[in-house]
Amino acid sequence: MSRNAPVTDATVVLGIETSCDETAAAIVMGGTDVLSSVVSSQIDIHAKFGGVVPEIASRAHLELIGPVVAEALDTAHIHNERIDAVAVTVGPGLIGALLVGVAAAKATAFALDVPLIGVNHLEAHLYAALLDDPNLEFPAVVLLVSGGNTLLLSMDGPGNYRLLGATIDDAAGEAFDKVARFLDLGYPGGPAVDAAAQRGNPRAVDFPRAMMHDGLDFSFSGLKTAVMNHVRKHPDVSSDDVAASFQTAVVDVLVAKLMRAARETSARSVVLGGGVAANSLLRSEVERLAAADGFRVALPSRAMCTDNAAMIAAAGWYRLRDNGPSGLDIGAVPNLSLVTDTVRTNRAASHRDRR
Ligand code: KG4
Repeated sequence: MSRNAPVTDATVVLGIETSCDETAAAIVMGGTDVLSSVVSSQIDIHAKFGGVVPEIASRAHLELIGPVVAEALDTAHIHNERIDAVAVTVGPGLIGALLVGVAAAKATAFALDVPLIGVNHLEAHLYAALLDDPNLEFPAVVLLVSGGNTLLLSMDGPGNYRLLGATIDDAAGEAFDKVARFLDLGYPGGPAVDAAAQRGNPRAVDFPRAMMHDGLDFSFSGLKTAVMNHVRKHPDVSSDDVAASFQTAVVDVLVAKLMRAARETSARSVVLGGGVAANSLLRSEVERLAAADGFRVALPSRAMCTDNAAMIAAAGWYRLRDNGPSGLDIGAVPNLSLVTDTVRTNRAASHRDRR
């Protein structure tokens, strides 16, 4: 594709994602048509350490990136020459891990002489729902819940969003991971708590619902401490009951604020994104309450909730269409934020307006 060619439904983007412990590549046409999505997870490599070891993650990405891109091309039945642009996660994430993807994407874009697009990983999570439901109705309220972030955003369309709320301490996924480690439930923590919770009683322990009636921000560090204090005081308590009660406390707050935000912004749809969006209780509660309130619900498939390159390619397609390509001199930005100063200012203004 020449650098000035229009971005169309036939534009094919190769997406590359290496921000944490998944090496992923995908081929997406027209921003929504996933021709292939390959994810090679390093979960087994990091499991024995109870968390992601950055240096090991970078080395594994180096070994895997070539075969994963080759498999994405094979599965999509396309040759290199059909790639019109290369999109890659530039942040946020682990610096060594990000650099592997960025270097691979630059080399590929340079060799094929096609545009390179740097993508914000968090922004890409917002596009995961669009991949499963291209006819998503806007305005939408998006709850983005992952291992590093808990954000509530109002989205008027691709690339057009405004922050409504965020965690003031731990991310929801971080709380799941820490509680799973404390209860010795296994790794990764979120799915382990989800599984244990299926066997437990969600009303066994009445854990606090922090900031439930206080704006649209979140706080989860007190809940994590409450879980630890309870287990230390009651060493014989069932881990399944604690997991179920903890999960219910997290989901109650997430869903209450998501629904309140949807009503306050007159949204037409509510959308989930990020790894915690794979949680069974969160998914069923959002579906139940959104249906009761008359909102359309967009729940990305579980595979699209967790890290993948299809969402990177999709976000890259919209970014290329609306903002053009990045330069070949882009770098990895480990602490890249979705929340620009402008968004923060908007948020402060909207809070003032409501008062
Ligand atoms: O979005 P993601 O794959 O990676 C980033 O953080 O960018 O999210 C990973 C997070 C982890 O904290 C993991 O424990 C959590 O998502 N997670 C879950 C579930 N599946 C993954 N949390 C709760 N329930 C799940 N089923």
